[in-house]
Amino acid sequence: MQPVRWGILSTAKIGRVKVVPGMMKSPLCDVVAVASRDAQSARGMAEELGIAKAYGSYEALLADPEIEAIYNPLPNHLHVPMTLAAAAAGKHVLCEKPIAITADEAEQLKRAASQVLIAEAFMVRHHPQWHRARDVIRSGDIGELRSIQIIFSYFNADPGNIRNKADIGGGGLLDIGCYAVVAGRYFFDAEPLRVVTLMDRDPTFGVDRTTSALMDFGAGRQLAFTVSTQSVPYQRVQILGTKGRIEIEIPFNAPPDVPTRIFVDDGSMHGNRSARGIDFPVVDQYRLQGEAFSRVIRGAAPLDYGLEDAILNMRILDALRRSETTAAWERV
Ligand SMILES: NC(=O)c1ccc[n+]([C@@H]2O[C@H](COP(=O)([O-])OP(=O)(O)OC[C@H]3O[C@@H](n4cnc5c(N)ncnc54)[C@H](OP(=O)(O)O)[C@@H]3O)[C@@H](O)[C@H]2O)c1
Repeated sequence: MQPVRWGILSTAKIGRVKVVPGMMKSPLCDVVAVASRDAQSARGMAEELGIAKAYGSYEALLADPEIEAIYNPLPNHLHVPMTLAAAAAGKHVLCEKPIAITADEAEQLKRAASQVLIAEAFMVRHHPQWHRARDVIRSGDIGELRSIQIIFSYFNADPGNIRNKADIGGGGLLDIGCYAVVAGRYFFDAEPLRVVTLMDRDPTFGVDRTTSALMDFGAGRQLAFTVSTQSVPYQRVQILGTKGRIEIEIPFNAPPDVPTRIFVDDGSMHGNRSARGIDFPVVDQYRLQGEAFSRVIRGAAPLDYGLEDAILNMRILDALRRSETTAAWERV
């Protein structure tokens, strides 16, 4: 397979530190250019990572005929506008999560998605630990699924950080609540019917800093999550079945340089004593994500999660936000 020629839209930290280095490990991804609003920043990132071309504007990158695919890690309010601009330039787009601010905004991508490939960058769905946990569920080993509990938190009170700016799509729900929603849909293999939310907003920033929610997946299946942008860093997924339990130790930010593990527990002893660990060798989920999308571009694999999936996710995030206002269950 010929490697796909990628262009990187901005010097965003996630791209510079995680996603682009991950992609550059792969023979399927050729990262040929990076753009920034500031030419010097673009050159700095190009030099740091060994990228051949640096552009001082996003438009110049989109006009480069050599580039086939764009990675878009701009702040959330620019996901749809710049994905549309990239698509208009004939480029496929891997766009960071959440794909938009609202489902209606994400719908604007529909026509473009019939001309180029557009996908939302949920790298977690490429990690073998997620695949294995789902295999264990499907095997019936933990019985019927009843409940999923998710915590995802970090501490970031920097007023300059995009997560703390309400007008550009900040807040915990959009930043990390979206992972809880994806996890529920992935492990239950179903869509939630209704949701209810409790949000605590930062009094200065106005963004939600701690959000908890209950999601009803029907047939007695419940998901409860807490995400927080101003709590001690922690993350865990617990999946409870009638006969067993699965725990994913580092479910979202699985490191690219140390092994990860999940536990499968038949519950016969308390305190994790009956939990069996399953280890996963070192793997870079961002590399896997870049490779998967490159294969789809080359027609070597189907697009497992395209725009429709991203819009469904946004509809759930919309319902979670509506519930803050109505203080009631909201249908999705
Ligand atoms: N998948 C993951 O693991 C993961 C992890 C973290 C974040 N993310 C997502 O990635 C995106 C970027 O997050 P980040 O933490 O990397 O952000 P960041 O470091 O703040 O980068 C955002 C970049 O966007 C550009 N930009 C354009 N207009 C801007 C504006 N009005 N304000 C601020 N920046 C602007 C800037 O690049 P230039 O100055 O170079 O133009 C900036 O460096 C978000 O959508 C986030 O949800 C995903």
